[in-house]
Amino acid sequence: MLPGGKNVHTMLEQPHPQAPVRARLSQRAAWAGGNSIINALMARTLAHPNLISLAAGFVDQESLPVEPTQRAFAAMAANPQHMRAALQYGTTIGYPPLREAIAARLLAADGVPERDAAEVSQRTIVTAGSNELLYLASDCLLDPGDIVLCAAPTYFVYLGTLANLGARAIGVASDAQGIIPEALEEHLARCQRDGELARVKAIYVTTWFDNPRGVSVSADRRAALVDIAKRWSRQGRIYVIEDAAYRELQYDGSDDPGSLWACDAEGDTVIHAGTFSKSFSPGIRIGWGVVPADLLGPILSAKGHVDFGTPNFNQHLMHEIIRSGDFDAHTAMLRDRYRAKRAAMLSAAEEHLRPICGVRWAEPGGGLYLWLELPDGLAASLDSPLFDRALSEGTFYIPGEHCYAAEGEPRHANTLRLTFGIPSCESIQRGVAALARALRTACAP
Ligand SMILES: Cc1ncc(COP(=O)(O)O)c(C=O)c1O
Repeated sequence: MLPGGKNVHTMLEQPHPQAPVRARLSQRAAWAGGNSIINALMARTLAHPNLISLAAGFVDQESLPVEPTQRAFAAMAANPQHMRAALQYGTTIGYPPLREAIAARLLAADGVPERDAAEVSQRTIVTAGSNELLYLASDCLLDPGDIVLCAAPTYFVYLGTLANLGARAIGVASDAQGIIPEALEEHLARCQRDGELARVKAIYVTTWFDNPRGVSVSADRRAALVDIAKRWSRQGRIYVIEDAAYRELQYDGSDDPGSLWACDAEGDTVIHAGTFSKSFSPGIRIGWGVVPADLLGPILSAKGHVDFGTPNFNQHLMHEIIRSGDFDAHTAMLRDRYRAKRAAMLSAAEEHLRPICGVRWAEPGGGLYLWLELPDGLAASLDSPLFDRALSEGTFYIPGEHCYAAEGEPRHANTLRLTFGIPSCESIQRGVAALARALRTACAP
């Protein structure tokens, strides 16, 4: 016993009262926290509460499906047995009728009804949005240092997922028809020369109206990409992760060249990720993956450690919405609504941006985004004079440089992403006019 009634043991265990006890986070947590564009954007924009956001990838607020959701809820509530089933835990893989509906819809959309729908639904996992599927699949495939090849530019949130896993993203050149197959092969050949082919685990592609450019992979290239993945699976399987988040948001015609998944006749290469977030409601948080048989067990084990299954109630609700026909009616209405918003953005761009020489864009056939290329040398970065000026004019955007992987194709700092998803037609008009004022100032000699 020491003076004051303390013994040696207690003294050793108690931290010094002055020294703060630090959390010891994992390496993964440190990787997760690094370089979040969303946090940086929030920090820059919070001081300007009246801004028109042309940045947030949210969906249109006014057309969120209030009545269809009420109807589906009422139908469930009218049947206490159904309600009890929905309020209970479900299974990790997901509610069977919803998985069957997802599989049947995929086969119909791809025009491959001859495939075995029951077998496909057995490989269909329901997740909390498609982001969860992208994360889980990547987590099962990637060790730190492993490589994913992706289009340049690509979905910046997925770049964050890869960073969180300690994986390397390599950007592959892409043009108006999506990722360029020849460029992809060149990267694979380079990886082989450098002794890194075994580290290439996946190719990530957004097939329809990608985020950030609104570009779709052309029909010819779809089969070519799957073929490349199979041919280069020399030192272990290279998967294609197909992100179909915007498939339902097509505004011109109804031609659909079919998914990459449909090009994978053996079903061993393509991981197909889909979501009801853009086509119905992101708040319901239901996405899915149709995965090769080899990956089903590992992904379900990983998912089981996280949540024992996607919220069962929401899965029942979503199934009822599809069963009643409300889902198809809603997506038809949404396409009309976004077509009008796209027109508003394109006409605002024509009116305000076209006169600014050197600003270029391509009309997106669907999705929620317009990608701008500025004159060479004019940076759109968060710390650029242009971004500051846009804030003071009353708007902001996603700087395009965040959509490029750290390796591969160089970052283009003279690019930016606008969205017509959440702003009204009137806000789109005012936001683009504000951006044009900022650009004119930034371009002024
Ligand atoms: C290309 C792409 N993939 C996936 C997602 C994820 O959507 P969710 O997790 O809501 O299904 C998004 C969301 O913006 C996206 O743009």
